[in-house]
Amino acid sequence: MSTPKLALTDTSAAKLTVEALVIGTAAGADGPELTAGSEQVAAAFGGDLAKVLATLGATGKADEVVKLPAGDGLRAEVLVATGLGKVTGEAPTAEQVRRASGAAARALSGVSHAATTLSALDLSATVQGTVLGAYSFRQYKSEPGDDPVAKVDVLVPDAKDEAAKHALKGATAIGEAVTTARDLINTPPNDLFPASFAERAAELGRAAGLEVEVLDEAALRKAGYGGVLGVGGGSTRPPRLVRLKHKGPKAAKKVALVGKGVTFDTGGISLKPAATMDEMTSDMSGAAAVIATMTLVSKLNYPLEVTATVPMVENMPSGSAYRPGDVLTMYGGKTVEVLNTDAEGRLILADAITRAAEDEPDYLVETSTLTGAQVVALGKRTPAVMGSEEFRDRVARLSQATGEGAWPMPLAEELRADLDSKLADIANVPGHRWGGMLAAGLFLQEFVADELPWAHIDVAGPAYNSSAPWGYTAKGGTGVPVRTIAAVLADIADNG
Ligand code: BES
Ligand code: MN
Ligand code: ZN
Repeated sequence: MSTPKLALTDTSAAKLTVEALVIGTAAGADGPELTAGSEQVAAAFGGDLAKVLATLGATGKADEVVKLPAGDGLRAEVLVATGLGKVTGEAPTAEQVRRASGAAARALSGVSHAATTLSALDLSATVQGTVLGAYSFRQYKSEPGDDPVAKVDVLVPDAKDEAAKHALKGATAIGEAVTTARDLINTPPNDLFPASFAERAAELGRAAGLEVEVLDEAALRKAGYGGVLGVGGGSTRPPRLVRLKHKGPKAAKKVALVGKGVTFDTGGISLKPAATMDEMTSDMSGAAAVIATMTLVSKLNYPLEVTATVPMVENMPSGSAYRPGDVLTMYGGKTVEVLNTDAEGRLILADAITRAAEDEPDYLVETSTLTGAQVVALGKRTPAVMGSEEFRDRVARLSQATGEGAWPMPLAEELRADLDSKLADIANVPGHRWGGMLAAGLFLQEFVADELPWAHIDVAGPAYNSSAPWGYTAKGGTGVPVRTIAAVLADIADNG
């Protein structure tokens, strides 16, 4: 992680001595149109800027970045025109600004000092998009290549304005939490396994001032975490369970967070096919999101009590691995018949959810890369949210406002009977593939305390970008749903 230094400035864009100056373009009917914030730049540019951009082939579409010499009227060396796409309402949406800022930040790698005018459209979105777009994970490269942009001045009408300073601080903190999650996800599974993951989580937690508790294998056995121990039994690297706690000032509400921490998912004895198995390095994305969000909650000192319960295992096939046919006794005593060892996430989550409920939270938010069916249903970019209806819809609404775009899904009741087991309380999979994402949600529901408002966010697709970078999303771990959980916590702090 190497977050650029962002600073507010109220100097005229025409007078800024920077290597690169970022302006926004919208996709108009007849070519690119300059967006609000670029007036001074356009005035100081020696010519019709929109026309010059059109001549260079710019259209203003999303993910388009066009660079041109800034000319004599400006003190910047290069102008960077970043596309927002078609603007339908009065102004571009926050997500359009975030993505355009991200695309620009990606194009600024190697630059030491830049400035952006997109803040005239939306300051927080510009800051978040810039922090996230500048992210790159190069720790394992011998030749690391260009550094991300080092310093970005953010143009505002008044750099001393308290609201602007507050927005910069908040948006930077959220951006940094997302990059913390990305770093954890992008760390390969030979280096990030349950014990090392727990150690990193504990370090992050302690550095942020959180209460930290780590249960090792012996502690898990003593307390009866049958799901975690069952799934983790096949690996030479034993499981852990990490608990992080933030006690905010005047904390009126208690929130429990749970995240799936499978540091690598081979499927176990129900082995996955080799193709794309490497992507299962991201099967701890839910855990990473929850841990990163906890550091944010502490940094911004949310007036809440928030406790994260994070199970960490490696799902491996071996002589000590759990088998299809095994019956596990979960934390809290329920029994589960394992029919497929690749449906491991729900088993470790069931233990964690039961443990989390012991703190008597007012809300529970759980997130996991839980099912391939999530990707089939909603694709690679849209998370699914299930749970108690009112809270589920609230989480989806807030997620959409962040740009992460989670969509509500039903816990279709008729699927529950398909989880009935011939010998245990419940089976971990139904005997068919229909509604696989919902079946997983229904399984989790069995472990959620009655009356506890809860949400399960399945991010199997959105947690990991296996294709080209776009907007503010790099290749690899995306950090979804850190921003959704942060928004939910902020909303609970404000509205109960
Ligand atoms: N970690 C996977 C889900 C997953 C799939 C995440 C693709 C990201 C991308 C999970 O543990 C899993 O293997 N689920 C199975 C469940 C099935 C056996 C009922 C699946 O979706 O195939
Ligand atoms: Mn699996
Ligand atoms: Zn998994």
